[in-house]
Amino acid sequence: MLHYQKIGLVNSREIFKKAMSGKYAIPAFNFNNLEQLQAIIIASVETKSPVILQVSNGARKYANQTLLKNLAKGTVEYAHELGCDIPIVLHLDHGDTFELCKSCVETGFSSVMIDGSHHSYEENIKLTRQVVEYAHKYDVTVEGELGVLAGIEDEVSAKHHTYTRPEEVEDFVERTGVDSLAISIGTSHGAFKFKVKQGEAIPPLRFDILEEIEKRIPGFPIVLHGASSVPQDIVSEINKYGGKLENAAGIPENQLRKAAESAVCKINIDSDGRLAMTAAVRKVLYEQAEEFDPRKYLGPARDKLKELYKHKIINVLGSAGKI
Ligand code: G3H
Ligand code: 13P
Ligand code: ZN
Repeated sequence: MLHYQKIGLVNSREIFKKAMSGKYAIPAFNFNNLEQLQAIIIASVETKSPVILQVSNGARKYANQTLLKNLAKGTVEYAHELGCDIPIVLHLDHGDTFELCKSCVETGFSSVMIDGSHHSYEENIKLTRQVVEYAHKYDVTVEGELGVLAGIEDEVSAKHHTYTRPEEVEDFVERTGVDSLAISIGTSHGAFKFKVKQGEAIPPLRFDILEEIEKRIPGFPIVLHGASSVPQDIVSEINKYGGKLENAAGIPENQLRKAAESAVCKINIDSDGRLAMTAAVRKVLYEQAEEFDPRKYLGPARDKLKELYKHKIINVLGSAGKI
């Protein structure tokens, strides 16, 4: 058993409490490799922001769970070396079984998500409760989910949203004992969130549902998944250098800013980072066809990613300087 406190990580409890009262949200950025992790830590240190490092099941399979865990362990020392001891959470993103969550708790994760949203309501409660009972023995915080996001969540995909039903949240939170709740109010995973034609407006998030949820569980930390904005300048850059992304669209940043000022304490961003890296890699390989040193294209990708994350932290989530 490797307890997260031994390696200097924190769970999400205190940082969510501060985010709630300070009206900002903590960034939760996914990583699968060294460059992504470097960009996250450098951006968070430079902006003095707490940060949640997210590892999906897919990331564990891609990069090897032991290597990923050890990379994440190194981030505490790395942040110190960079000159600022920011609070760092290591979080399992979209855990789908009790065994996976248990294994993460035992190997240094300070927070886990159990995503039972594709099960029936009662099954979701049962599974989530089981994870909470285990994780809380080690003071690991747990995120649950109610409602289904359209798009792909790891190996599970859904064609349509099922918005969170506000009338269920109180009962769910009480019976499971979760520390935070992911909800569905119109966000979705990936870079193709809306089927809108050129010039058509993107449908706004369902702030009415969010407000109803806040009324029923006041002060309880809410999580927004699928919160990439799919910056159009980055999409254009990808297409300019040989990419082919058509009708990519995301959540406008002003809506995320508004959400961050509410009970939303954690905002998940993965796709925007993938887009930023892809744009940078494509540009180098297009302009310098003779280049074959991975550092020459992954380095610029890391720099672009860092700038994107700093922008999110400062201008969208509002977590800069909140350590
Ligand atoms: O919610 C999904 C995250 O973006 C992780 O994606 O399962 O492809 O690693 P992944
Ligand atoms: P995006 O695909 O919008 O970046 O969402 C990421 C996410 O929710 C990870 O859990
Ligand atoms: Zn997600």
